[in-house]
Amino acid sequence: MTVLLDIKELRGGYGRVEVLRGVDLQVNAGEMVALLGSNGAGKSTLNKVVCGLCPAWAGTVRFDGQDLSGAHYREVVRAGLIQVPEGRKVFPNLSVLENLELGSFTRARERRALNLERVFAIFPRLKERLRQHAGTMSGGEQQMLAIGRGLMAEPVLLILDEPSLGLSPLLVEEMFSLVRQLRDDGLAVLLVEQNVGQSLEIADRAYVLENGSVRFSGLPKDLLASDDLRRAYLGL
Ligand SMILES: Nc1ncnc2c1ncn2[C@@H]1O[C@H](COP(=O)(O)OP(=O)(O)O)[C@@H](O)[C@H]1O
Ligand SMILES: [Mg+2]
Repeated sequence: MTVLLDIKELRGGYGRVEVLRGVDLQVNAGEMVALLGSNGAGKSTLNKVVCGLCPAWAGTVRFDGQDLSGAHYREVVRAGLIQVPEGRKVFPNLSVLENLELGSFTRARERRALNLERVFAIFPRLKERLRQHAGTMSGGEQQMLAIGRGLMAEPVLLILDEPSLGLSPLLVEEMFSLVRQLRDDGLAVLLVEQNVGQSLEIADRAYVLENGSVRFSGLPKDLLASDDLRRAYLGL
């Protein structure tokens, strides 16, 4: 198996407060990995450090044969490591089309038209709303837009940070089947979720982060088989 993302002994935080206390995590090519853990465990911080949005204090990040430790976020995007951040972060005053176009600002710009059509095939709703300001769309539509914007950059690995947060149960179902579809089409996905049950159903492997350290890594079935872990971290 080819290791796509290889994170070793990663440390980082805010100001003097250490959040990540030496994290090791791998994602293989074509794999769906669930990253779980309670609120404040450091999941989003890990994403931010890996994607060059927060400085790494120590450790290494290798991706697709490249050393991305301490790389600028633009270099990370250029390598095909694309993040859909927590809270969607679409540009509210820009149209749907403008938001999507920005997704290909740094990578795959020459195939923008082609990728727009691909995104519209996945999310027909976005095509109907091309001129609408992103900020006036529902939470679910904004999440689709945020994922569509990520796909515009032709990700090699897509990191989704809590994509189901704030969505209705019906849309949560839709989101999970979409994520599964992307993986089935060959895309590697790192899925950060509070929705533990559904994530473990579709993930190939899982990590549980607790207080900035990896508390568990392995197969979903082994995680579900541990009463301690289930009770302490999964709320199941
Ligand atoms: N911008 C920030 N400045 C200072 N502390 C932060 C910031 N963002 C997150 N933190 C702190 O870092 C810790 C981990 O947060 P976060 O990575 O968001 O956790 P998770 O995504 O697992 O819920 C928390 O204690 C949180 O309060
Ligand atoms: Mg988070």
